[in-house]
Amino acid sequence: MKLQKEESMQRRVSIFNMKGGTGKSTLAVNLAHALALKNQSVLLIDCDLQGNASSILGERTGPTLTDILTGNAQVSQAIYQARENFAVVPADRQLNTAANYIVSKGRKAYSVLHRAVQDLSQYDILLFDHSPSYSTVTEAALLASTELLIPCELAPYPIEGLLGMFNKLQDELDDHQLAIIGIVPFNVDLRYNMTHQYIEELQTTFKDKVTPLVRTDAAIPKAQAYRQTIFEYDAQSKAAQDIQKVVQHLFLGGMTNG
Ligand SMILES: Nc1ncnc2c1ncn2[C@@H]1O[C@H](COP(=O)(O)OP(=O)(O)OP(=O)(O)O)[C@@H](O)[C@H]1O
Ligand SMILES: [Mg+2]
Repeated sequence: MKLQKEESMQRRVSIFNMKGGTGKSTLAVNLAHALALKNQSVLLIDCDLQGNASSILGERTGPTLTDILTGNAQVSQAIYQARENFAVVPADRQLNTAANYIVSKGRKAYSVLHRAVQDLSQYDILLFDHSPSYSTVTEAALLASTELLIPCELAPYPIEGLLGMFNKLQDELDDHQLAIIGIVPFNVDLRYNMTHQYIEELQTTFKDKVTPLVRTDAAIPKAQAYRQTIFEYDAQSKAAQDIQKVVQHLFLGGMTNG
């Protein structure tokens, strides 16, 4: 039997960046599986109607996050086991109807997800994969989270984009506290000189919040094409090794390997 986790021990991490295509879903799925392989019990909640994180489940029917947010299903009815120790609440294309529903119902509807996750103490870690566009669903998921993890593309002006985003979050979330646990340089091509400059800029501004980086690796899109995690497709790949380092850095610092 697994001991119930103290609420305070459970990690609730939003994987967030309002820029599209920075590696949110890739990081979410592979972080989840890496943690699951280390015997952590993980629930990944897909908060993006594109459903990229949900695709690790393959074909399925049944309740989704939309149904939870609109009061048509309990969270337990929308949990699907993806792998051992790794469960998913999927999204679907109707998630924007849930966004409209939250707008129409107001304050109480924003906290539905926050209340729902109070009953999920069997999980060590909740991960939220976000859409690049900010909506009331984004906000509900951020209010259910306590920590923020940001995969960041190394492009011109990396600092300005992130600072602008943090300002927006502060404006939108009022007094809800979110600890930034890491900025992960993602899909990093070390062959370009500018890459090294961008990493230095990030480190100068965000200091130890900058985690180990994840290199560009063709194994990532290939794994996704097979609906596999990088650890299933090629556990020896560059990306698999890099993601392991991020996991170790952020979550397993105090644990021994294995
Ligand atoms: N390390 C990597 N190496 C190679 N390709 C990568 C890597 N990381 C991500 N990609 C590719 O980049 C694309 C965007 O990644 P992903 O879908 O994870 O980003 P996202 O932030 O979730 O996007 P969106 O904002 O649309 O939700 C995908 O096609 C993915 O295969
Ligand atoms: Mg995504």
